Amino acid sequence: MAVAGTGQSNENWSGRAAFILAAVGSAVGLGNLVRFPYVAGDSGGGAFIFVYLATILFIGVPVLIAEFMIGRRGGGSAIAAVSRLARTEGRTRAWVIFPILGILASFLIVSYYSVLAGWILHFIQVFAVDIGGRFVAEGPVALTAPAFEGQSDEEIGGILPKLLSQPGRMIVLHALFMAATVFILSRGVKSGIEAAANVMMPIFFVLLLGLTTFSLVTGEAMQALTFLFTPDFSQLTGSTLLRAVGQAFFSLSLGAAMMLTYGTYLSRETDIKSSSQIVATADTAVALIAGLALFPIVFASPVLSADVMGDNDPGLGLLFVTVPRAFHLMPFGSLFGLAFFVMALFAALTSAIALLETSVSWADGDYDVPPAQKARRRVIGAICLGGLAFLIGIGHALSQVPQTVAATFFNDWSPLDAIPLFQGMNFLDAIDALATTVLQPFVGMITALFAGWAISTSAAKEELRFDNDSTFALWQTLVRWVAPIAVGLVLLYGAIIVPLLD
Ligand code: PFF
Repeated sequence: MAVAGTGQSNENWSGRAAFILAAVGSAVGLGNLVRFPYVAGDSGGGAFIFVYLATILFIGVPVLIAEFMIGRRGGGSAIAAVSRLARTEGRTRAWVIFPILGILASFLIVSYYSVLAGWILHFIQVFAVDIGGRFVAEGPVALTAPAFEGQSDEEIGGILPKLLSQPGRMIVLHALFMAATVFILSRGVKSGIEAAANVMMPIFFVLLLGLTTFSLVTGEAMQALTFLFTPDFSQLTGSTLLRAVGQAFFSLSLGAAMMLTYGTYLSRETDIKSSSQIVATADTAVALIAGLALFPIVFASPVLSADVMGDNDPGLGLLFVTVPRAFHLMPFGSLFGLAFFVMALFAALTSAIALLETSVSWADGDYDVPPAQKARRRVIGAICLGGLAFLIGIGHALSQVPQTVAATFFNDWSPLDAIPLFQGMNFLDAIDALATTVLQPFVGMITALFAGWAISTSAAKEELRFDNDSTFALWQTLVRWVAPIAVGLVLLYGAIIVPLLD
């Protein structure tokens, strides 16, 4: 074959394990550690999880397979891959709209993801200072104590609000995180993306398992299990369905041109189906386990449980307010608190790398660009695109600052106020909702249609190598009909009808 399916001079992953680790690194992020636990607890517990798992199985996995397939067969970058495949299959070039919107989604996400990662950096410092200070005074015995001894609950709960009233600090931390992302990306696929995942993901898993065990043993395991898994079907409304679908796409990094891009570095030998299953299983397991790491220690305190069970949506406050308060009450609190935020940092960094990579991969050009020039374009692309995302992120950071501290344009700017779905949302929330509840599902839906209808059955079969025709037929039915119709209906209902009626 002349073009499609060779990947030519694109740099490839060094092997299947490296590819899977990088893809898992992209999937596992703040979505698993923050968004999933609170959305699940807040939207009907077991009932939400049931819808979520069904979405992963019948929509997420088939679309993930589709993204890897399109990426590998087309090669180059997300846009180049789709444009080339459309041409070889004799289809309209208009299909490129979906990788373009996907790149837009991931670029918008990284601009605020980095601000939130900056908050994580702040908490790492706060916990490290706490440990350091006491260790010097008391020696190793200090480590067994709860975090922030001698401080009040209000003071711990006030760490985030205090940070939010220091815009300069927030922007510096955001800059540091973005710089690390750009640095890693500029080193390329093998010595950048892959190397980072190789170091960070194993440490992440060890920390997660350690923390979960600690939390289950020392905290209120039963109450956490009840909160997360007891089904409350009365909470399954249209907007919960949209949240479940949005969460599934966000968590698996779908509909953001991202898995498409990682697919372009995939060698012909790697089996796409089994790799996709591993990535989806690992991502879902981490989301569920994260709930078991967080809630037992939160429910160990009656005050904190009352807060979480209360009506107000805890949102990011779960990670940045409730969790530090919980470590304030636990033995070994500062040690585990530090471990927790380091773990969150690694999860966030491997995801941010993936988020920015979609546009950097476009910037370094198609695979006919000579390697040396490609490497140069990658460095320049990473710096410019990372710089731009950083600048947009300043707006997100300022949108979190109270007006009384710094009166800026962003204090009460609701950029998408005219659209009912985004009414009253500040810059960060509006961009988050636009990218994750609208763009990602929409792009995912078009990806499924492209894989199911625009790519010929023979090409898809050759690429995916299913063991038998009936499993292939099942996959094809899911991407041709089930995923587009289900996502389409949920989008129509959750993003248009419900907000209009509200
Ligand atoms: N999957 C990541 C998370 O759960 O935090 C976020 C993400 C990464 C979304 C990459 C989209 C993407 F392309």
